[in-house]
Amino acid sequence: MSEFAFDEEIRQEEGAASAIRSETAETPAVAEEAESGSSRSADDFRRLSFYQIWIRSFADGNGDGIGDLYGVYDKLPYLKYLGVDAIWFSPIYPSPNADYGYDISDYKNIHPDYGTLDQFKRVLDKAHSLGMKVLMDLVINHTSDEHPWFKESCKGRDNPYSDYYIWRDGRKKGRLPNNWNSQFEGKAWEWNEERGQYYLHVFAKKQPDLNMDNPRVREEVKDIMRFWLDMGVDGFREDVITFISKREGLPNGLPFLPAINGMPHYKDGPHIMEYLEEFRAVAREYGAIQIGEAPYTPTKTALRYMSGEDRVLDMMIQFDTMTADCFMTEYVHLPFSLRRLKRAFSKWQYALEGKAWNALYLENHDHPRVISRYGSRLFWRESGTCLCAAYMLQQGCPFIYQGQEIGMLNIHLPSIDHYLDVASKNAYHSFHLKEPAKKRLRRIHLSSRDSARTPVQWTAGRYAGFSKVRPWFYLNHNYKHINAAAQIKDPASILRFYRRCLELRKGSETLIYGTYREYFPKSRSHYVYERALNGERILVVCSFSHIPTLLRLPKDWIGKPKTLLLGNYAKIHDEDLLRPYETRVYRMEAAAGSTD
Ligand code: GLC
Ligand code: CA
Repeated sequence: MSEFAFDEEIRQEEGAASAIRSETAETPAVAEEAESGSSRSADDFRRLSFYQIWIRSFADGNGDGIGDLYGVYDKLPYLKYLGVDAIWFSPIYPSPNADYGYDISDYKNIHPDYGTLDQFKRVLDKAHSLGMKVLMDLVINHTSDEHPWFKESCKGRDNPYSDYYIWRDGRKKGRLPNNWNSQFEGKAWEWNEERGQYYLHVFAKKQPDLNMDNPRVREEVKDIMRFWLDMGVDGFREDVITFISKREGLPNGLPFLPAINGMPHYKDGPHIMEYLEEFRAVAREYGAIQIGEAPYTPTKTALRYMSGEDRVLDMMIQFDTMTADCFMTEYVHLPFSLRRLKRAFSKWQYALEGKAWNALYLENHDHPRVISRYGSRLFWRESGTCLCAAYMLQQGCPFIYQGQEIGMLNIHLPSIDHYLDVASKNAYHSFHLKEPAKKRLRRIHLSSRDSARTPVQWTAGRYAGFSKVRPWFYLNHNYKHINAAAQIKDPASILRFYRRCLELRKGSETLIYGTYREYFPKSRSHYVYERALNGERILVVCSFSHIPTLLRLPKDWIGKPKTLLLGNYAKIHDEDLLRPYETRVYRMEAAAGSTD
């Protein structure tokens, strides 16, 4: 018996869900020859859609208030119902949680809060049996300072682990080895008394950077990859992978830039390709998928990593689409600009066309909720569904972050002490210090990663059906009306729309492989793009306006017969009028009498 009231319903719907989809058997991941535009093999990674699980807040299966692998196991049928093809687990390894799992203290185990290796295998097998792949998060730019390697490395300058990290003496007059700031906590250097040197940490103090120039460290990485691949995982999402090769001599960065002043010297560094090629060789042995996180990477650089058969990454998680309402980071907030968002979308679509493959996303564990950012609370359902079609039907693999599919929203906690995220706390305590506390807190409301980390809202019941006891972190109060159970029942819900979009994409070669073309890029209220393949043309029209607007079609669509494949309003009364956030997906039909 399942403890979740709506599981039964999912099972009932499951028959329908699988009937409209051809079942994919368990397959080794990427088609080796998956050259952009050519291969159409069934296990081509480009067909896949991904669902990201940040486990601590996904579902609590053993009743201690913390999400875990037992909860994941129970929810696999839900993911199947939703229609995703692969799961990416944010880190589930042992970790002191200074950065919630992105500070790993043991790469080959499961955090006791989340279960055991055996339970992981059960999840993996069940996911595979449902036709879903599983990707792990490979965090190898840094470890936790509680990792045994680091503890050994601290002990002295001539033990086997001495060179696993980046150690330096201070400069004269007690100055730090260079002027880099860390992205999360003050300066990028921390003094270690035991060793009598500074270590580098591009992120938090408890995340010392590994020295990837040391071949033994790279062997460790390959060993970790093999460990999980041998177990059967299908690939990796690779955390800040473009940071792993540091410029020789670690030169000073620009003094006036905050958090990222050292970036030019550790992003896309001199040996990055060599190192990634080594890791790629391991992935190839297993046909594993590799998705690299690549903050602030221009498309030209991205192509170096992603194009051609000898590419070192299959996809990259770029950051441009995350800055339509801010400058570089959400902490420097700007009003949302649809044009900025569209520019980011189209820039990546055009640059990668025929050369590489996009990872499409609007949310993950590092960003606030997208409806709170780019959509509208007033038109919550309409904007949630509009945003879905706006990104998911572009060329690329769609990624959905837990809770996004039910339109979860940001939380506004009453003080900075209620927040947990190291990056939010650091931002609050280091920037805009002259502003009143209230205003700084408002910045946190707009920017905090914690908004993406509240427990998933499964039901309207106690603790939102996430757990039987009080969850480890604050629930969003809106769970009574925003929850998965209610949305499964409601054909007009955001969840059902995500499901329909995934289904539509899965059934359409044009939506998977077709070319992309944007219309009316200057429009401040509409996002219109076309996907085309072998004469088939599909048009996606998204209004981002709060008020009704006139539908504007591209010239060669005017007067042509077309079929509505998908829409986010139940009925269209006036074909020419788009209601707030109205979204339509049309297919052009051959004109009557014409043969093709
Ligand atoms: C990536 C992760 C983020 C983490 C950081 C350091 O950006 O997505 O959550 O804090 O790397 O590992
Ligand atoms: Ca638990």
